[in-house]
Amino acid sequence: MKIVVFGSGAIGSLFGALLAKHNTVVLVGRAPHVTSIRQKGLLINGKTRLTRMVPAVESTKEISFSPDLILLTVKSYDTETASSQLHPLLHDQTMVVSLQNGLDNIQKIGKNIEKKHILAGVTTHGALFLKPGIITHTGKGKTILGELNGHSSKRLKTLVTVFNQAGIETQMSTDIEREIWRKAIINSSINPLTGFLGCKNGYLLENPLLEKTAEFVCTESSLIVSSYGIRVSPGEMIEKTKEVIQDTAQNYSSMLQSIQQGKKTEIDSINGVLLRIGAKQKIDTSFNRILIELIISLYPT
Ligand code: PAF
Repeated sequence: MKIVVFGSGAIGSLFGALLAKHNTVVLVGRAPHVTSIRQKGLLINGKTRLTRMVPAVESTKEISFSPDLILLTVKSYDTETASSQLHPLLHDQTMVVSLQNGLDNIQKIGKNIEKKHILAGVTTHGALFLKPGIITHTGKGKTILGELNGHSSKRLKTLVTVFNQAGIETQMSTDIEREIWRKAIINSSINPLTGFLGCKNGYLLENPLLEKTAEFVCTESSLIVSSYGIRVSPGEMIEKTKEVIQDTAQNYSSMLQSIQQGKKTEIDSINGVLLRIGAKQKIDTSFNRILIELIISLYPT
């Protein structure tokens, strides 16, 4: 398969390196990461250990083929800009798969790309951008892919096979929208807490007060999502969130990594969307509100 991975942060680089084993992959990212990959290849250490000479570019204009798959792994606040650059790359069958955190990506991609091209996914892998050219795979997770209309299409089956062949444990879902909501609940409970405290994910379960706080956030976010008509249970989401924390205990969440790099965070696409829904539905949003304030105090938006 011919693949463009658009967004070569920690997750995009990890998936790009793995997919490059059996596929033609080009990474789209920024200097100095792209420069380093061009010079020395992309090095993955931690749970996965490999070095891959994978082509990397800073602009889609440098890509000379039309890919079968564009894996979108940019931060949610960059989704609109990124998807506005994809059109010249598309052929009739190109799949554009959003593998991002946040609740507003599909809507943003839909402003630039015809719906028939778009699929979505979620992943609970933990990855750390160690330095340009080097990514640490900090925690093995699971990946779920799905069609927006819930169909178990032929192209979705092919995609799942390609991911599994690359060593990325992947399942397909007939309700990917719900998986995106579930992932956002998990992110809402882990990312701002670890982002503000500057701790690894695992610390949330080492400190009883933090464990309780994460449970409160998770319950509040689940109730907000339920009020919107999405079937989720707070108890099950707490269990799932703790499982992700355990699996990625050694990871610094993507929100903390953004803060450490002096970059904007995805707080608005995660807790921000939940807060706005909660306010509309007249559901308590106190925990999400406080977390947003705390994160904004570190990186004013
Ligand atoms: O955003 C993140 O950091 C990741 O989605 C996860 C799974 C919480 C691991 O750190």
